[in-house]
Amino acid sequence: MSSRIPGFYKLPVSERHARLAAGTSLDAADLDAFLQGLSPDTADHMVENAVGVFGLPLGLALNFVINDQPVIVPMAVEEPSVVAACSHIAGLARRSGGFSAEADPSHMVGQVQLLDVADPEAVRARLEAQKPALLEQANTFCEGLVARGGGCFDLVVRILPPLTEGPHAELDSDRPMMVVDLLIDTKDAMGANAVNSVAEGIAPALEEVAGHRSHLRILSNLSDRRCARATMRIAFADLCKKDVPAADREGRGREIAESIVEAYRFAARDPYRACTHNKGILNGVDAVAIATGNDWRAIEAGAHAHAARGGRYTSLTWYRVLDDAGVLEAGIELPMAVGTVGGATRVHPTVAACRKLLGPFAASAASLAGLLAAVGLSQNAAALRALSTEGIQRGHMSLHARQVALAAGASGEEVDKVAQVLTAETCFRENRAREVLNDLRGNA
Ligand code: MEV
Repeated sequence: MSSRIPGFYKLPVSERHARLAAGTSLDAADLDAFLQGLSPDTADHMVENAVGVFGLPLGLALNFVINDQPVIVPMAVEEPSVVAACSHIAGLARRSGGFSAEADPSHMVGQVQLLDVADPEAVRARLEAQKPALLEQANTFCEGLVARGGGCFDLVVRILPPLTEGPHAELDSDRPMMVVDLLIDTKDAMGANAVNSVAEGIAPALEEVAGHRSHLRILSNLSDRRCARATMRIAFADLCKKDVPAADREGRGREIAESIVEAYRFAARDPYRACTHNKGILNGVDAVAIATGNDWRAIEAGAHAHAARGGRYTSLTWYRVLDDAGVLEAGIELPMAVGTVGGATRVHPTVAACRKLLGPFAASAASLAGLLAAVGLSQNAAALRALSTEGIQRGHMSLHARQVALAAGASGEEVDKVAQVLTAETCFRENRAREVLNDLRGNA
């Protein structure tokens, strides 16, 4: 099915389901899973002290074409305008060929901390001399990964010197510390469990070779050996609103492209802006991570740490104007530890249906990672375009108005009618929504 479904946003939910049933591989049970979600019984097996399940809206971002393949993207998110923003930019990008996306192999790091090491260089030499035997032993703790062609393929020993400056320097001690980073290919799994099993399993052998005690044994969420990247182009003319006359579109669009680049440079230079800029990226990334049953906290942690890799927190995306081609070009790079096997992906019926909708993009961790990067980029480009032109509040508040209308008791068609009045009046108080609703019902 094409990812372009004109007028989809105007249809009632049941009609949207009918379109999906007709045009995708989703069947009645999958569509039912969109409505029913996780059962309380399954939830009870997933966490402790379960008392129920917690719902989030599930929307579909349209118009995406990634590496020449159309894809409809499920997004679980409570914030209005995220789904619309991604769909909108994806629609503009598709006119210039869509997104290109790719991801590194799924290389994760498991860490074993070594303490009170009297002669760190000698310990490093001993560990490196024993590397082949240690790797062989490490792989006995992740046999499933090894069977799928992955497993522990290297270890890196690092000496961690005491801090001499920064917020923690005063509380640090001069006792020596080292870390053994175990490099593990987790293939199509996110891999947290396998990596932690290897770190815990191999620690006694590392202690023996090192001759010193180990302490923490845990994966690193800075999965920067596992980055995903995406790029896209948007023609200048496509950056304009529909009402800009044809003759002015190229020039006006170029101005918008320049102002988007200025907005990006603000984030590149200033951590205060970069934090908000990257939060917008994660609005999109997290929503797809949740819908596909992935650990979005791990993605968040990795993204922010990666943004600070140069010693200064900065933007995860970049933008430039290409005058000769008449386009704005943009790209993103961020760590993307996601899986398409294991974890919640197996037990959550909505996740299963979302993955089915993604088709080949949910067939491997690398394709899913590339998709998430493209979605993050689209969300960021939408935010920068809005912020560089009319600001985000107009679009945001009209969507917010629908939530206020719902909170005031509106249902069905009433929601849009009440929201329209609130938006026109730029008044988003629940009291006013109730008055409008009462008038509407009185007039009906
Ligand atoms: C709001 O959730 C996200 C934005 O603040 C992102 C940004 O400022 O780039 C709009």
